[in-house]
Amino acid sequence: MCGIMGYVGPNQAAPVLLDGLRRLEYRGYDSAGIAVLGSTIEVRKAEGKVGRLIDLTEASPLDGSVGIGHTRWATHGAPSDLNAHPHSDPSGAFVVVHNGIIENFYDLRDRLIADGHEFVSETDTEILAHLVAEAYDGDLAGAVRRAVSQAEGAYALVVMTVHEPGKIVAVRRISPLVVGLGDGETFLASDIPAVLHRTRDFLIVEDGELVIVDSEGATIETIEGVTVERDRLHVDWDSEMAEKGGYDHFMLKEIHEQPAVVTETLAGRLEEDGSAWLDNVHFDDAFARNLRRIWITACGTAYNAGMVGSEVFRRLLRMPTSVEYAHEMRYADPLVAEGDLVIAISQSGETADTLAAARLAKERGARLLALTNVVGSTLAREADDILYTRAGPEISVASTKAYMAMLIGQYLLALRIGAARGLADPDLASRVIHGLHALPAALESVMHREAEVAEAAKRIAEADDVYFIGRGLDYAIAVEGSLKLKEISYVHSEAMPAGELKHGTLALITEGIPVVVVLTQEALYDKTVSAIQEVKARGGDIIAVAYDDDDRIARFADTVLRIPRSDDLLGPVSGVVPLQLLAYHVAKIRGNDIDQPRNLAKSVTVE
Ligand code: G6P
Repeated sequence: MCGIMGYVGPNQAAPVLLDGLRRLEYRGYDSAGIAVLGSTIEVRKAEGKVGRLIDLTEASPLDGSVGIGHTRWATHGAPSDLNAHPHSDPSGAFVVVHNGIIENFYDLRDRLIADGHEFVSETDTEILAHLVAEAYDGDLAGAVRRAVSQAEGAYALVVMTVHEPGKIVAVRRISPLVVGLGDGETFLASDIPAVLHRTRDFLIVEDGELVIVDSEGATIETIEGVTVERDRLHVDWDSEMAEKGGYDHFMLKEIHEQPAVVTETLAGRLEEDGSAWLDNVHFDDAFARNLRRIWITACGTAYNAGMVGSEVFRRLLRMPTSVEYAHEMRYADPLVAEGDLVIAISQSGETADTLAAARLAKERGARLLALTNVVGSTLAREADDILYTRAGPEISVASTKAYMAMLIGQYLLALRIGAARGLADPDLASRVIHGLHALPAALESVMHREAEVAEAAKRIAEADDVYFIGRGLDYAIAVEGSLKLKEISYVHSEAMPAGELKHGTLALITEGIPVVVVLTQEALYDKTVSAIQEVKARGGDIIAVAYDDDDRIARFADTVLRIPRSDDLLGPVSGVVPLQLLAYHVAKIRGNDIDQPRNLAKSVTVE
């Protein structure tokens, strides 16, 4: 995810900015840049690592004590020197850096082009520089306010102008922004670790606020212009804790980022009327109407996300959809043909088996769609269509937020295809659309129940074997819950459809064996309860994931982990979160290296 830096003070800005960008490297990025205000504003930026930018500024130094900087994780436009931030208006008098997405990018760009504006990059950010310059009448804060009133989306924006030296103006709309308060100097950053070695006093900018920064500190206002009083936050984290946002591990941080990831992945893509506007998905309505069959192919957690997706496609579109392990599909002589859509899911876009299955699909005439988190990855480059998941870089090896974004991406794709060929059940589709918009808040409420999950984890931490069961979509997330547990806790676990238990595995259920049961599918509820009874009869310890208003489950389960009620088709999205947290807490109790588990690579680029 992009990183932001800003500095106003008595010292040279460039070294402070570059140092801050280095400290934000852990967020992941593909290009970097800084702008410094002296007698004019000068910009240095480059694709690649901050080291390259440092070389560039050493070769061509920048003089000035006010500046802004950025590390970019590409969303609009490939990683390149031109697309790197900062971006300027045509006069070079205004520069901006930005983190997040402008949803109405195309509308704004079309309007500006019609008014004679010319753009040098493919980014949504450059538009903001033009909008601020256009709105400027002698007051930078006012111009920024007018510019952002036109821009929809989730973002943080930082602006500087030659007309008002000694000042930086920034706005936060969802994407994080903090002010670091020094002695006669002030810092802006997207995250505390960027400047924690320079100050321990911070002002946290909240959503919908604008901040005016100078060397004496910062004034915070609402976007409408009402002054806000904000208490200083004194931070005593060490630098390692700070990188993890105060969480003990990246995995936990990433689990907690999921509400924001859902917001980002949906941003600008789903209208209230259900039409899904997916940039980089180019197939036309005729292709969607004539579609013969959908194949999903992937490995690991991405495959598990595909298990949910295949059911979502089947239910929303009533068309044949299957999910295949890429390492199986590539050798199975699959019946893929022209008129099929093959969706290859891969967080990294570099998994060797997934690439091979994707290439095979193309060779056989299918259309290839990449659902990936990495802009410009091999899979993205080779696909006919791309849906970027916008989860931001995932640092923990065990995947959580990338999985979440893959789920959301598949709901969007199903709605996009359904808009062209007709949805099997329009009422169901509108419940899903409504539910998707409500999801960030729902996920947030699951996070608040972490203590209950941590309590249940104590029992699993002592077990040698754990079973996960569910039916339909509940089975799909049981598989992911089981994989997470194995990956990081090293407790043996197996997931199976609840109905399969009696075909052999029941022999292993004895007194105290933990069985995690997922129950978000109303139509299958009673059938799953039968499996629970079989477990109870043998003394098994039932840990259930169930909706808030499910008042039957307490009769059967030893522990209930609650999630907010949603349409059953969206049940897996909230339901998977307690399972991720459960795996995390079991691993923590067992003292494992959670972010770097044994024998697991983040990206498997060999067969
Ligand atoms: C490895 C990772 C998993 C991931 C899988 C597929 O096994 O440890 O977390 O799900 O590869 O990776 P991809 O980048 O294709 O999603």
